[in-house]
Amino acid sequence: MQPKNPSNPGRRKFLIAATSVVGAGAVVGAAVPFLTSISPSAKAEAAGAPSKADISKLRKGEMMVIEWRGKPIYVVRHTDKSLELLNQNIERLSDPDSQQDQQPDYAKNENRSIRPDVVVLEAVCTHLSCAPTFYPQIGVTDFDDDWQGGFFCPCHGSKFDLAGRVYSGVPAPTNMLVPPHYYESDDILVIGQDGAKA
Ligand code: FES
Repeated sequence: MQPKNPSNPGRRKFLIAATSVVGAGAVVGAAVPFLTSISPSAKAEAAGAPSKADISKLRKGEMMVIEWRGKPIYVVRHTDKSLELLNQNIERLSDPDSQQDQQPDYAKNENRSIRPDVVVLEAVCTHLSCAPTFYPQIGVTDFDDDWQGGFFCPCHGSKFDLAGRVYSGVPAPTNMLVPPHYYESDDILVIGQDGAKA
């Protein structure tokens, strides 16, 4: 299922972030396109090196994309409204309590996150691995009459809420994956590793 309107307001809110390997000394959070971002060396990537990003410029309602092990990771900062709405829609979700093993234990909570205001998700639809599109707006959309914000997969129409929880009755069988991650400081997010602050 495709949205009738090909324009995507959510895309305008994307922030693209550079990534760096922990310990590599690279600049964190430089605003360069995702596809040319600083990536781990092939050897480090093969070893699953963590990626690090500065989220200080990620404003409420925005998403940035971090590369980790060659995969895009979505990082979203909630608005006050989206936080308020997050668990008012659970009857439409397939696994609202995250019972399936799609997240680390520290993200098995109602926000599926370490910090309530920041969501970290693998940008992979759990149906056939397309990249779900970020739709933060609330209200009527081309694909839902009562959208609360979240992700819509353009390949076959799966829907996920802003915590990556899958809606019932769509092709995707499970919630989006939450990768291992922790915060090195208030602004520095490390993806690919559990940390002492997790
Ligand atoms: S790959 Fe997302 S719905 Fe099929």
